[in-house]
Amino acid sequence: MPQSPTKPFSDVLSGERQAIPPVWMMRQAGRYLPEYREVRAKAGGFLDLCFNPELAAEVTLQPIRRFGFDAAIIFSDILVIPYALGRSVRFEVGEGPRLEPLDDPAKVGTLATQADFGKLAPVFEALSIVRGALGAEIALIGFCGAPWTVATYMVAGHGTPDQARARMMAYRHPEAFAKIIDVLVDNSIEYLLAQLAAGADVLQIFDTWAGVLPPAEFARWSVEPTRRIIEGVRAKVPDAKIIGFPRGAGAQLPSYVEATGVNAVSIDWTAEPAFIRERVQSRVAVQGNLDPLVLITGGTALDRAVDNVMATFAQGRFIFNLGHGIQPETPIAHVEQMLRRVRG
Ligand code: CP3
Repeated sequence: MPQSPTKPFSDVLSGERQAIPPVWMMRQAGRYLPEYREVRAKAGGFLDLCFNPELAAEVTLQPIRRFGFDAAIIFSDILVIPYALGRSVRFEVGEGPRLEPLDDPAKVGTLATQADFGKLAPVFEALSIVRGALGAEIALIGFCGAPWTVATYMVAGHGTPDQARARMMAYRHPEAFAKIIDVLVDNSIEYLLAQLAAGADVLQIFDTWAGVLPPAEFARWSVEPTRRIIEGVRAKVPDAKIIGFPRGAGAQLPSYVEATGVNAVSIDWTAEPAFIRERVQSRVAVQGNLDPLVLITGGTALDRAVDNVMATFAQGRFIFNLGHGIQPETPIAHVEQMLRRVRG
């Protein structure tokens, strides 16, 4: 087997600790960067930017050029899958995503089972442009949303504070809800495989709303669909490297890791250090988990928080990241401060 061209990031996912952990940030291409805001303004809408291969590639590369991160994540969104399934998906400035709600069994009956991946051709093209432009030592991350999280937006038609409508639908109409999940599982497998074929080195599955589910529902709607996606991807690409991000999973992280087969788990800032080291990092690599709010704060609070994350996790297999996406108001100088502190 030829050695993976994308060290040190991929090496951590293969189980090799790095003396200086690889670093990237969730949402690293985004509104905190003036060069992003400039491209975003000329692209038109958010989806127009996602579906313009040259511009999507450009904003993917911006944080790599500026900060020298160890991984680039393709600029796209988890809601491109409902879009490719023929659902209406819009992004309202300042309001977030708007979809046609899929909140009863009759509507679910009209849901397409096969996405039109031709609509996502620009994403695959952007991946191949980025892979061609990146140095061999920098990993390119492809991604999708976990079925549960994508379903919370599809059911409610927008973001919700507690995902109540999806949770209620899963209790009231479990068969119809399972159909949404099944469609998302099948199409996410195909989507992730196409991203690997287009140049992605690593995949991340974002389950932003995993933490609102009671344990039995977490197992059924978050863990099991994620397990099926990973099994489906590895049926075609046995050594596919996959990071899971079941945000808020807390005490259920060990069972998530065990059941899904992820190579790494991304943890939020509430994770309990000793628990994660003993029960999670002992099995897979850990990614995280600086609080995005301390990155806004900066100063000695930021130094202390970075040191704390490093002291907690850097003795094992570790990728330095935030516990969730970087916030638009974060000063660039604080990102630079964080990087100096991590890399020494
Ligand atoms: O990380 C990266 O830099 C890659 C790009 C990326 C985006 N969205 C770009 C984006 C990734 C990996 C995502 C994932 C995503 N999208 C998630 C899971 C991760 C998470 O942050 O929880 C979710 C839940 C979504 C859905 C979504 N997209 C929402 C709720 C919103 C609105 C909120 C917001 O931040 O504006 C989006 C829009 C979105 N996706 C933006 C970006 C850069 C902002 C749009 C803009 O520039 O106007």
